[in-house]
Amino acid sequence: MTTTFPPPPAGLDEKLLQQLAQHSALHQMWLSGYLYGIASKGQPAPNGVLEAPSVAIAPLAPSAATLPQVTVLYGSQTGNSKKVAHQISAKVRERGFQVVVADMNDYPTKNLKSEKIALFVISTQGEGEPPIAAEEFHKWLLGTRAPQLDGVQFSVCALGDRSYLQFCQTGKEIDARLEVLGAKRLFDRVDCDVDFEDAVEGWLANVLEKLPVPAALAAGIQSAVVHNNGHQAVAPAAKAAGTLYDRKNPFASPILEKIQLNGRGSQKETWHLELSLEGSGLLYEPGDSLAIYATNPESLVKEVLYTAMLNGNKTLTFNGKEAEFRQILLRDVELSVLTREVVDQYANWTNNAKLKAIVQDNETLKKFLWGRNVADLLREFPAALSEATLLGFLRKMPPRSYSIASSLLAHPDEVHLTVAAVRYDFNGRPHQGVASTFLADRVKTGDSVPVFVEHNEYFKLPADDATDIIMVGPGTGVAPFRAFVEERSERGASGKNWLFFGNPNFETDFLYQIEWLNHLKRGTLDRLDVAFSRDQKYKVYVQNRLAERSRLIFERLENGAHFYVCGDKNRMASDVQNTVVQIVAKESGQGEEYAAEYLKNLKKQRRYLEDVY
Ligand SMILES: Cc1cc2nc3c(=O)[nH]c(=O)nc-3n(C[C@H](O)[C@H](O)[C@H](O)COP(=O)(O)OP(=O)(O)OC[C@H]3O[C@@H](n4cnc5c(N)ncnc54)[C@H](O)[C@@H]3O)c2cc1C
Ligand SMILES: Cc1cc2nc3c(=O)[nH]c(=O)nc-3n(C[C@H](O)[C@H](O)[C@H](O)COP(=O)(O)O)c2cc1C
Repeated sequence: MTTTFPPPPAGLDEKLLQQLAQHSALHQMWLSGYLYGIASKGQPAPNGVLEAPSVAIAPLAPSAATLPQVTVLYGSQTGNSKKVAHQISAKVRERGFQVVVADMNDYPTKNLKSEKIALFVISTQGEGEPPIAAEEFHKWLLGTRAPQLDGVQFSVCALGDRSYLQFCQTGKEIDARLEVLGAKRLFDRVDCDVDFEDAVEGWLANVLEKLPVPAALAAGIQSAVVHNNGHQAVAPAAKAAGTLYDRKNPFASPILEKIQLNGRGSQKETWHLELSLEGSGLLYEPGDSLAIYATNPESLVKEVLYTAMLNGNKTLTFNGKEAEFRQILLRDVELSVLTREVVDQYANWTNNAKLKAIVQDNETLKKFLWGRNVADLLREFPAALSEATLLGFLRKMPPRSYSIASSLLAHPDEVHLTVAAVRYDFNGRPHQGVASTFLADRVKTGDSVPVFVEHNEYFKLPADDATDIIMVGPGTGVAPFRAFVEERSERGASGKNWLFFGNPNFETDFLYQIEWLNHLKRGTLDRLDVAFSRDQKYKVYVQNRLAERSRLIFERLENGAHFYVCGDKNRMASDVQNTVVQIVAKESGQGEEYAAEYLKNLKKQRRYLEDVY
C-alpha cells in the first residue's frame, strides 16, 4: 500500500525530510513525539519519552482506523488483573492501536467472535476457580453456547499464586478453550506468580512483537478514546500517581502496639497490631490489605540445615546479592510451605520414584503438601545436595496479606491488623506459619516490618453512605469490618451497619468486644449478631444466625443493602452463600432457582462481596 502525502509546506528542507525517512520505524515514532512536543509546548517531550498527544497529526500519520482494534479483557477479584489490563492497554496504544479495555463482568459475550485481537488477563481464585466477576464469562466460554472464534487472535496473561495447587487454572482453561474454538494464539500464555510484574512485562514485549506492524508506525501517536456499548472508554494514558513504596520496595513500618486479643485458656491466638505509616506516603481504604515480608524462624533454618546436612556459613550469591547461606535461608526463601514446583523439582533431581508418583496425582499431592515444610521433605526424602542446588529448588519468600482493620480517618498515619498465629503439630513436631508467627513472636513494639499496601478494587464500602451494609466476619474475618464501621462512623454515614461475628467462646474470643458495644451504643453499629460455636451443646455458626434473621436480611437486600463476607474460604464462605440462597428462596416465596439467580445478580452488581482466604 502506498500512502500519498500532500506536498510539504514552502520552506521545509526536503533533504531533512529524506533523512527522517531513513530512520527506523521506532526512531520515527520517537521523533514524532519529540517534534510534537516542540511544536505544541515549545519543548520536546520530557526525557525524550514519547507522550501521546491527544490529537492525531493528520495527514502525516495514517489513521489508526487502518489498524485492527485490540481488546483487553480482564477478570479480577482484587484489582491486579485490572491494573495489568490497563498497563497492557497503554503499551499497545503507544503502538498506534485503538484499544478497548473491558471487565469480563460487563463484556457482551456476543461481541467476542467479532474481535480481531483479544488479550486476556485473568486471575484464579478459590481452589482453581475464576474470580466472581468472571464466573459468567468463564462459564459461557467453556460451555456449549460459545461460538467458533476463527477470526480472533489472542494471548492470555494468567495471574495466580504458586502456593495454590491449581496454579493459574482459570487462565489455563481460557487459553485452552480459545484454541479449541478456533482462535489463533498470538503468543503463548504466561502464568504469573504473586510477583507478576516482570513476567507480565516479558510476555507483553513478545505480544507487542507479534502485533501487526503498520506501514507507517508513526500512527503510534494516535490516542483513541473508544465509546462502545458495554466497553469501557479508555482515556489517553495517565501516569498513575504512586507512592515510593510497593512490592519491590517495601516500607519499614514501625510497630506501635501489639496486643493479644484472646483471653487466657483460649485455643485461639489472635494478635492486634498497630503499625505506623508516617512519612511513607502510603494510603489505603477500608477493604484493602497490608502485605508483609516475614523472616523464617531460626529453629526452622536450623532444621533445614540439619536435614540437608549442610552448614550455614558458606557465602553464596542469591538474587544478585552475596550473603551467608544461613542468612539467605532466614530471609529470602520460603521454608514453611511446600509448593508443587518445589516438590516436582526435588523429585526429578533425586529421581525418587515415590515422590514422582506423589506429584503425578493432584489429590495425593494436595494431602502431601498440607502441613509439610521444607525440613519435612528433606527428612523424608534425604539426598546429598549442595547449598546452591537446594536454593535452586526453593521459592523466593512471598509476602503475606492481612486485611486492614483500621480506617485512616480514625487513625491517621496508622494501619491496624488482626492476625491469627498459625501453629500446629505435624508428624509429632511443632510447626508454624512464617508470617503470622513473625508478627506474633519475632517482632516487638518499636521494631519495623517491611510492608506495602495491596489495594482491593472491589471489596469496598458502597459509594452512597445511605446504603445499608451487612457484614459477615467470623474469626479474623472481622478485621475489614472494624475498618468499615470506623470509616462510616467518621463519615457520619446514615446507612445501617449490621455485623455477624463468630468464634469458639464468648469469654475468650469476642474480638474487639468493647469497641462493638460502644458502636452499638452510639448507633454506628445498628445490629450485632454473634455465634459462639462452643458455648452450647450444639455448634452454632454465623450462617445459623443469618438463617434466624432471614426476614430482615431479605428486607435489607431488597432495599439495596451490600452484603460482605470475610474469613475462611474453605467452609464458611460457601456455607454463607448457601444460607443466603435459602433466605432469598424462603422470604421471596419464589424457590431456589429464583434465589440462585438473585445471588448471581447481587454478585454481578458487586453487592455480594467476598474477601476470603
Ligand atoms: C486478602 C487476604 C487477607 C487476609 N487477611 C488475614 C487477616 O486479616 N488475618 C489473618 O490472620 N490472616 C489473613 N490472611 C491469611 C494470611 O495471609 C496468611 O495466609 C496466614 O497468616 C498464614 O500465613 P503464615 O505465613 O503464618 O503461614 P504459612 O507459612 O503460609 O503456612 C501455612 C501452611 O501451614 C500449613 N498449615 C496451616 N495450618 C495447619 C494445620 N492446622 N494443620 C496442618 N497444616 C497446617 C499448611 O500447609 C499451610 O499452607 C489473609 C489472606 C489474604 C489472601
Ligand atoms: C482466596 C484466594 C484464592 C486463590 N486461589 C488461587 C488458585 O487456586 N490458584 C492460583 O494460581 N492463584 C490463586 N490465588 C491468587 C490470585 O490469583 C492472585 O493473588 C492474583 O494476583 C489476584 O489477581 P486479581 O486481583 O486480579 O484477582 C488466590 C488468591 C486468594 C486470595
